[in-house]
Amino acid sequence: MKFFIDTANVDEIREVASWGILDGVTTNPSLIAKEGRDFKEVIKEITSIVDGPISAEVISEDSEGMLKEARELAKIHKNITIKIPMTKEGLKATSVLSKEGIKTNVTLIFSSNQALLAAKAGATFVSPFLGRLDDIGNEGVNLIQEIMDIFDIYGIETEVIAASIRHPLHVTEVAKTGVDIATIPYGVFQKMLKHPLTDSGIERFLKDWESVK
Ligand code: E4P
Repeated sequence: MKFFIDTANVDEIREVASWGILDGVTTNPSLIAKEGRDFKEVIKEITSIVDGPISAEVISEDSEGMLKEARELAKIHKNITIKIPMTKEGLKATSVLSKEGIKTNVTLIFSSNQALLAAKAGATFVSPFLGRLDDIGNEGVNLIQEIMDIFDIYGIETEVIAASIRHPLHVTEVAKTGVDIATIPYGVFQKMLKHPLTDSGIERFLKDWESVK
């Protein structure tokens, strides 16, 4: 299972990358807007920190506009993956980009059929959003499982990114589905590290060591 970080904050990316466990980065327009910096500049800086797929999202709603943005973004670095919303226009753009050898991540996936269409269009990655499904009373993890099962039956090579992860239990749940990747916010990475018994265990070991000295 690969771990991506879901943020556009370079300090957060740098820190988690320093743990030696980071395989890639996903951003979206909301995360970029939060940083208050130039989009391309942020993306370029991220490519200097992480050697893995880095998703940068297009904001055009028509395929021509998406393609124009995508080709510009792809010039920044070989690791740039174009994040494209799951729409009819998005599918058209994905299909063209896949033929041009540009990696794509079809985002805002909320059903297995959407994932199937994106894969058929040649998406490198699909991003089903589990937290947002949980928010409306659905079991987001069931969608991840269903997509994994279907992709397995057909030997589909598109990788599945479990997105919209909100807490450590989400990571455990999606890991049990065999999902290829989880894209995880910085705060959730911090919580995954922690266990009170680890902290008290270290404290006890150090105290005992001191008493021997
Ligand atoms: C995924 O690529 C998205 O950036 C992200 O996971 C969305 O998460 P949210 O639903 O918490 O905004």
